[in-house]
Amino acid sequence: MKNTVITIANQKGGVGKTTTAINISAALAFKGFKTLLVDVDPQANSTISYVLNPEKIEKSIYEALTDSNITLKDIILNTTVPGLHLIPSKISMAKLESTLLGEIDSYYRLKDKIEGLKKEYEYIIIDTPPTLGLITLNAMVAASYILIPIQPSYLSLEGTDDLLETIEKVKQRANPDLKILGVLITLHDKRTVISKDVINKIKEVFGPVVFKTIITRSVRLEESPAYKESIFTFAPNSSGAIQYKNLVEEIISRA
Ligand SMILES: Nc1ncnc2c1ncn2[C@@H]1O[C@H](COP(=O)(O)OP(=O)(O)OP(=O)(O)O)[C@@H](O)[C@H]1O
Ligand SMILES: [Mg+2]
Repeated sequence: MKNTVITIANQKGGVGKTTTAINISAALAFKGFKTLLVDVDPQANSTISYVLNPEKIEKSIYEALTDSNITLKDIILNTTVPGLHLIPSKISMAKLESTLLGEIDSYYRLKDKIEGLKKEYEYIIIDTPPTLGLITLNAMVAASYILIPIQPSYLSLEGTDDLLETIEKVKQRANPDLKILGVLITLHDKRTVISKDVINKIKEVFGPVVFKTIITRSVRLEESPAYKESIFTFAPNSSGAIQYKNLVEEIISRA
């Protein structure tokens, strides 16, 4: 059985991390893989996408990471996607960094907690906030792979050096087995020339690690979370559904 933990990370905001996390985790669950989506972003966008009454959540990832008596198992929720489980986040997660300040194991909290239920899932997908702070570092330390979504726009490669440097540091200090699963080109606008130029540049910089599948801009992908659905039930024949399905085949072949 696979025990693959994939962290979706890019400190740039709005590049499709959450859209990718929610749709690949749904696709994996639909394919019959035991799948857990872990939301560590204080914005809680993944949680809100798949939970009917998120305001009623009492215990979330923040409590699990800061209270040794609470395990991840205690806070797992079912989602609106059949078969998909979720570790929910809330705005309280924004306090994590100050709460754990000075704690010697602050970078290992998520890894330690995930260890306890890793055996039960074939895929664990972690959605992170747009920062390279303590939360994202916890997600990198806990992961076997990183998936990096990049939006092919002007300046989109700005900051990737910092991201790659951070991944390298995590590898050297805390998680030597960490690998880059792939770079995903998202939010591609077929109508612009700049988009095409940047895609070529991304392929030049990253080489074969770039996924063959490119996610284009599609209103359906933007709409589906509002209906608490993945793209596969909301608009099964849309370009977004087809592209994310193809992406998941590539992911399964790599990890
Ligand atoms: N392929 C796409 N086509 C159209 N809209 C998209 C696509 N991917 C993402 N979006 C929309 O773009 C916005 C940003 O996407 P998303 O929330 O996935 O990014 P993010 O990287 O998770 O952002 P943050 O850094 O704030 O967590 C959202 O409104 C989302 O619905
Ligand atoms: Mg997000």
